[in-house]
Amino acid sequence: MITHQFFEKYNGKDTYLYLLSDKIDVIVCTLGATILSVRVPDRFGNKTDVVLGMTNPDDIVNKGDYMGAVIGRCANRIADGRFTLNDVIYQLAQNNGASHLHGGENGFDKKVFNASVDGNSLILETTSLDGDEGYPGTLKMGVKYTVHGSTLAIEYFGESDKDTVFNPTNHLYFNLNGEEDGNILDNVLQINADSYLEVDQNLIPTVKSPVANTPFDFTQAKPIGQNIDDNDMQLRLAGGYDHNFCLEDNLAATVYSVKSGICMDVFTDCCGMQLYSGNFLKGQEGKSVYNKRSGFCLETQFYPNAINRDDCLKPILKAGDKYHSSTQYVFTLL
Ligand code: GLA
Repeated sequence: MITHQFFEKYNGKDTYLYLLSDKIDVIVCTLGATILSVRVPDRFGNKTDVVLGMTNPDDIVNKGDYMGAVIGRCANRIADGRFTLNDVIYQLAQNNGASHLHGGENGFDKKVFNASVDGNSLILETTSLDGDEGYPGTLKMGVKYTVHGSTLAIEYFGESDKDTVFNPTNHLYFNLNGEEDGNILDNVLQINADSYLEVDQNLIPTVKSPVANTPFDFTQAKPIGQNIDDNDMQLRLAGGYDHNFCLEDNLAATVYSVKSGICMDVFTDCCGMQLYSGNFLKGQEGKSVYNKRSGFCLETQFYPNAINRDDCLKPILKAGDKYHSSTQYVFTLL
């Protein structure tokens, strides 16, 4: 079932909250197509909110470190904010040192989306004009959230009138103990990836490396905190995990919390997933106060900076082609 109510004005525009309810309850704001809350049955017969979130439009946009927002046009970093497409060099906004991060200064996370409902799906759409943040082509994009039983499915759509770069994701921060718990280090994580991308000091991916015998080996389930403080150059560069895993399977990852009994499977048709251990969180006040490592992200996407790499799929959307990708979060009890 889907209901909605007026939320607040942002930049003179009305924003709305949508509640998608089945066995789980998901609250989505039309600002940034942001997921503010995901309440899931826990082992005590209650519902636990497993995602971090802000409570007002200003904080959603300015303080929330992209919590729950849709990211784009291109998720993660593009080195020097630059790429070449059809022999033209495009210079994008450099909003993270020299890099372009998460779509730039005014990415999808800051747009007010138009909403419509189709059965148990919420469709949020926006148009990014030719030249927006430096990207070519007028891009019509949409995200569809569907709650069915204990599954939250996220689908992305896009179509552009010129060849462009399109690589959307969602930036949910999870803590399966509950969002107010403050610490994700005991969340147990398994990732179906035998390799990951090392990064440089700007967190731009470099070589693809095997995870075996490194702290990045999540092929067998282990607590996120088990190796996070190991004396490892890659962990030091990022202050924890902030790396892309090269996925082998549609079942990308499984996470569970012994405290709440909540288990989450992540399915996706994307080839990459960024594990980010909330290293930059620093006491933001939202539903709770969020410090370093109080949430983790599993951002399904193309490899970061893939537009400038030749060893992977590039996030190029050709003029007139239709983009579609999907990621599902499936909740069960241990
Ligand atoms: C992504 C990046 C991180 C950081 C967060 C937002 O996950 O990989 O480095 O920028 O977003 O704070």
